[in-house]
Amino acid sequence: MNSEKPNVKINLEDLATFCKKKGFVFQAGEIYGGLAGFFDFGPLGVELKNNLKNLYWKEFVQKREDIVGQDGAIITNPKVWKASGHVDTFGDMLLTTKDTKTKLRADHFIEDELNMPGDALGPKEIEDLIVKHNLKYNGEDFELPIQFFSGMLNTQIGADVSKQSKAYLRPETAQSIFPNFKIIAETSRQQLPFGITQIGKAYRNEISPRDFVFRCREFEQIEMEYFYHPESVCEELTQELLDTKLKILTAKAQDDETFEMIETTIGDLHKDESYKLNTFHAYWLAKYYNWLTNEVGLKPENLRVRQHVQTELSHYSNATFDIDFKYPMGFKEMLGMANRGNFDLTQHQQHSKTKMEIFDEKMKSKAIPNVIEPSMGVERFMMAVLYQGYEDDKERGNIVLNLTPKVAPYKVAIFPLVNKAGLPEVAREIFNELIDEDIEVLYDKSGSVGKRYARADEIGIPFCLTIDFETLGQSNEDDSEEVKAEKLANKDSVTIRDRVTGKQTRVEIENISAIIKNLVKGKVDFDLI
Ligand code: GAP
Repeated sequence: MNSEKPNVKINLEDLATFCKKKGFVFQAGEIYGGLAGFFDFGPLGVELKNNLKNLYWKEFVQKREDIVGQDGAIITNPKVWKASGHVDTFGDMLLTTKDTKTKLRADHFIEDELNMPGDALGPKEIEDLIVKHNLKYNGEDFELPIQFFSGMLNTQIGADVSKQSKAYLRPETAQSIFPNFKIIAETSRQQLPFGITQIGKAYRNEISPRDFVFRCREFEQIEMEYFYHPESVCEELTQELLDTKLKILTAKAQDDETFEMIETTIGDLHKDESYKLNTFHAYWLAKYYNWLTNEVGLKPENLRVRQHVQTELSHYSNATFDIDFKYPMGFKEMLGMANRGNFDLTQHQQHSKTKMEIFDEKMKSKAIPNVIEPSMGVERFMMAVLYQGYEDDKERGNIVLNLTPKVAPYKVAIFPLVNKAGLPEVAREIFNELIDEDIEVLYDKSGSVGKRYARADEIGIPFCLTIDFETLGQSNEDDSEEVKAEKLANKDSVTIRDRVTGKQTRVEIENISAIIKNLVKGKVDFDLI
């Protein structure tokens, strides 16, 4: 049985409704009924996605000297996909019903019917299960044997229809990195070990796109290929990284069908040779796990690592570990981390007749490098962040989206208390200053402040600023002298409110941008400002 069903605080349909209502994401071509597997990202969705991608880029490209970026074409020479093995082997098992010829993805059908993970099942095992349990779809039998269905999305290139040549929309961003590996190593003067990363769209002709943005036909990937000499060890694998604690669903627990997770450390997984987690693989698994929990703010209880069982390993992989998130439909893959060995570079060397060897200065020898590949879907990443953050706060009477400030679409909302009497002018000035400081700000001038707080909570804004009459140093005629003095002392300050605690305090206008920056980075506690 698939282990640990989540406490569903919101189901998938309601999450999709929330995302549409708030402008995070909706179906592409919605007014025409949409198109299965394709989505458009609205104003908040695009900000959230950009923040997630920028956070990654900062951590894994800008902060490091050994990783560089690229932006490859979505359509490339089709020979790339022949060499990589995608043309011949990339796809899923297809079940077709006998009468109505309904098409189903075989592993998903088994998951739904028998409530067991389908990832690890091969065609023969699925056929046996169908026979053993006499499985049907809407009373219909299936055509057997199971068919292979290519996941490649094709297109045609060229103006002359008779000579048009077939090409593919890339099913992964990775394959535009491998053929560029030598050019990039040379032009960016990289020595082994080093990585090339990119963020971009990928396309798959999924048989059954489903689970909101979890399985789309167009999606975005954040992928990195980290190249190292096959005989080298990762010198960056510190004891601190080895001590990273996590829960893992091992291949054995899946083979034995116990599905019991064990608590362990990256160090223990690395020591036990049966996991085939070499030093570079261990390093990247630990790096990602720590980044997701410490920087992005995903809670360890919402994550698990899952080792791929032998039969489900992709054609290129020696060992793969997924980091799964606890989505409304249970633990599912958010990212995969594969040891691709030298499969891809060797294939491209053979097919293109271009040498892919490189000299390693430290190892003093030439080799085709091995590769560790962390690969994450932006939509699944975004869905995890949104699902974890979603809270129906009964006390406040509104939804609160508890996003880590670093990923929140807006870091701060600005409210002039009323839309007159000089308050909008001050609010605009602050707004402009924060924008100049690269802080994402939402200006909201309508409704009561309580309503504006609720709206900000619902879209995950961590801090709100209210510009009131005290900001202008004004008081009411009937205020006591003491109150008047207090209000005057508040001149050039605004109220700042923390979403998490609801606490409020006043801050000087001249300090706002520095304070917001420090709050967002987690460098200062709200109580201490
Ligand atoms: N280059 C390796 C690769 O593409 P994958 O496991 O097929 O491996 C990597 O995909 C990641 O891309 C997954 O962990 C997932 O986050 C995302 N992904 C894959 N297929 C997807 C789909 N149909 N819709 C949304 N995200 C998808």
